[in-house]
Amino acid sequence: MQKIVIQGGRRLGGTVTVSGSKNAGLPLLFASLLTRERCTIRGLPRVADITTSLRLLEGLGALVGDDQFASIVVEARALSSSEAPYDLVKTMRASFLALGPLVARTGRARVSTPGGCAIGSRPIDIHLAGLERLGARIRQSHGYVEAEATRLRGARITLDFPSVGATENLLMAATLADGTTVIENAAREPEIEDLAAALVTMGARISGAGTNEIRIDGVRELGGCDHSVIADRIEAGTLLIAAAITGGEVHVIGARADHLGALLAKLDEAGVVLAAVSDGITVRAGGVLRTADIRTSPYPGFPTDLQAQFMALMALGDGQSAIIETIFENRFMHVQELARMGADIRVDGRTATVRGVAALSGAPVMATDLRASVCLVLAGLAAQNTTEVSRVYHLDRGYERLEEKLSALGADIVRVRA
Ligand code: EPZ
Repeated sequence: MQKIVIQGGRRLGGTVTVSGSKNAGLPLLFASLLTRERCTIRGLPRVADITTSLRLLEGLGALVGDDQFASIVVEARALSSSEAPYDLVKTMRASFLALGPLVARTGRARVSTPGGCAIGSRPIDIHLAGLERLGARIRQSHGYVEAEATRLRGARITLDFPSVGATENLLMAATLADGTTVIENAAREPEIEDLAAALVTMGARISGAGTNEIRIDGVRELGGCDHSVIADRIEAGTLLIAAAITGGEVHVIGARADHLGALLAKLDEAGVVLAAVSDGITVRAGGVLRTADIRTSPYPGFPTDLQAQFMALMALGDGQSAIIETIFENRFMHVQELARMGADIRVDGRTATVRGVAALSGAPVMATDLRASVCLVLAGLAAQNTTEVSRVYHLDRGYERLEEKLSALGADIVRVRA
């Protein structure tokens, strides 16, 4: 068990580079199950969730080669299993993205149902309804989903909600279906555009990725790919907020303004000075930090994965802000921990009302999930005295070398044995 110890109150300064995207990397790795050919994915972040996916792919019989994460090669030439076991799926829900590719490629898949997590019940009904529309026979028993189909058939699918995971699962499955599939009310996240771009280089016929209507003309088989993953927009947003919350000035290489529109608009509203440049975004704290209300929603709305980080910033804002979480029913676990640091936040259902305070004070706090953990790190950077964040395994699921990056920007932050 480890914890992160931060001596707060230092302004961040300098240049930092964003890692590759975890949430784009995961479906890209599972897309390799669609082909017998070699898939090379470049720039994946060295985080626990990526490592778990590689173990799952190996468990299915794929050959995995990794040269120090610069690039990862997956060759699913001969799959020895079509089962994604509970032990792996329970540690990483995104393992459920193996379902679509497996049933499309092999005609059969048995995947553990992911179950709920700290931030919500996380149902899979939209994934399953879509696969049934594609002609799969779905059975659920003993905590597993079993899907079977001789060959999937193209269909028109209207999603009840623009679920990222369901869009990715169905997009991958439809590439090998017989005929044309149209996914309506599809999720529009950049991670889906990145997945579609890789699939097209594998020979898939896809149009409309990034819009709410995606069309896929199925093909008999796919080839391999050599694809570089997009930069992690959530890590980029986290680093921009880290600079703002410490009153610093940082150049974030790899941050894309076109992927961060909703956040940049809110930071601007809060008086943070931003400049999009060729290789990234420069952020500089303005004078007084003003407050801004946010409401999370599917892309291009304000990302739920930046809600906790933005709340940490608003805890020091000059005034009151309302933070409305519409995506997950239980994503305010960080509120109590911020309150331990002196924040003034009241939660009423899906709305958190944040009254800015003059200063936060360091305290021992506990991470509960990935984004809540980094929110506490950001609060610790701004707080007076010492903050200790425990259960940092949550952080390691999605942030690569975060303390190294922050200390290179001048933060006093170390990881120690708990
Ligand atoms: C992806 O999760 C991300 N994970 C999440 O990031 C992110 O918070 C989420 O999208 C929303 O942006 C990955 O990409 C690996 P959804 P996903 O399906 O695909 C409901 C992080 O911090 N829903 O878009 O699981 C669901 O309950 C993680 O990196 C159904 O009701 O999210 C939720 O309320 C956390 N039925 C909403 O849709 C379904 O079948 C959005 O979920 C599927 C989803």
